[in-house]
Amino acid sequence: MAQGIKTPPSPMPDSTVVNGVRATLGAGTPAEKRGSYVIDIRNLHRIYESEAGYTHALKGISLQVPRGEFLCIMGPSGSGKSTLMNILGCLDTPTSGTYLLEGLDVSTLDDDELTALRASRLGFVFQSFNLLPRTTVLRNVELPLVYTNTAPKKRHEIARKALASVGLPEQYYDHNSNEISGGQMQRVAIARALVNDPAVILADEPTGNLDSATGLMVLQTFRKLSEQGKTIVLITHDEEVSTWADRTMHIRDGKLLTDEEERAARAASTSHGRGRT
Ligand SMILES: Nc1ncnc2c1ncn2[C@@H]1O[C@H](COP(=O)(O)OP(=O)(O)OP(=O)(O)O)[C@@H](O)[C@H]1O
Ligand SMILES: [Mg+2]
Repeated sequence: MAQGIKTPPSPMPDSTVVNGVRATLGAGTPAEKRGSYVIDIRNLHRIYESEAGYTHALKGISLQVPRGEFLCIMGPSGSGKSTLMNILGCLDTPTSGTYLLEGLDVSTLDDDELTALRASRLGFVFQSFNLLPRTTVLRNVELPLVYTNTAPKKRHEIARKALASVGLPEQYYDHNSNEISGGQMQRVAIARALVNDPAVILADEPTGNLDSATGLMVLQTFRKLSEQGKTIVLITHDEEVSTWADRTMHIRDGKLLTDEEERAARAASTSHGRGRT
């Protein structure tokens, strides 16, 4: 119900400008506490309003993710996964609650600042790869650097380094992106997400279109990146995928549960005779 939701208090930020993005510490909150997480979400609600009425998609989600953590989020269809990912990716705004990305309160940013933040601090990886077809692997990976006006020589250098870091052999760099395998495509997409050196990689079912052996290579790549300090948030339906993560959280009906809470909820629903979920 929309009426039950309070709007967040208007922030009184202490802000400075860094790389065109306003850096803002969490208002009124001890910096050492709230600044220590890459992602810090408190009591987040998202209510969609449509002609059909209100949908309360996220119901008071709080989540803190330290740097370098590989976090997996699982949940049934309609539970709120994409809604949460869209907010984490600064593509959508919560109805209430706070989201600090590297200590920056994203609600204080205007559209241009959000675009700059997305381009510099977030990398996106999708189930369907989203590469430009009939365009070489190298060019695909370079593209985010074209938008940030990086000089061509520097672009090649960074793109080649990113492709090497995801383990794609050099012989494929000049292939068109539609002329390589699915697993190779996903590694190209991860390399593209890396070129601007983001703090966080958001991956929505990145192994959903891959066979299990190829999916494994992609998961090994994420694992390695998290060990190098990248923070990974990955959505999956696949229990097997979640075993690669440092931590798995579950969304049920807009609420976030730990592994233990999820197990307790399953046990309770089984013992009440409602069957397994
Ligand atoms: N734009 C929208 N307008 C109204 N309701 C929406 C909108 N987007 C999502 N919802 C509703 O919000 C709830 C959560 O949707 P969401 O897309 O986050 O689910 P999901 O967990 O990503 O599901 P799936 O696994 O099927 O992708 C659902 O009840 C959905 O119908
Ligand atoms: Mg979804």
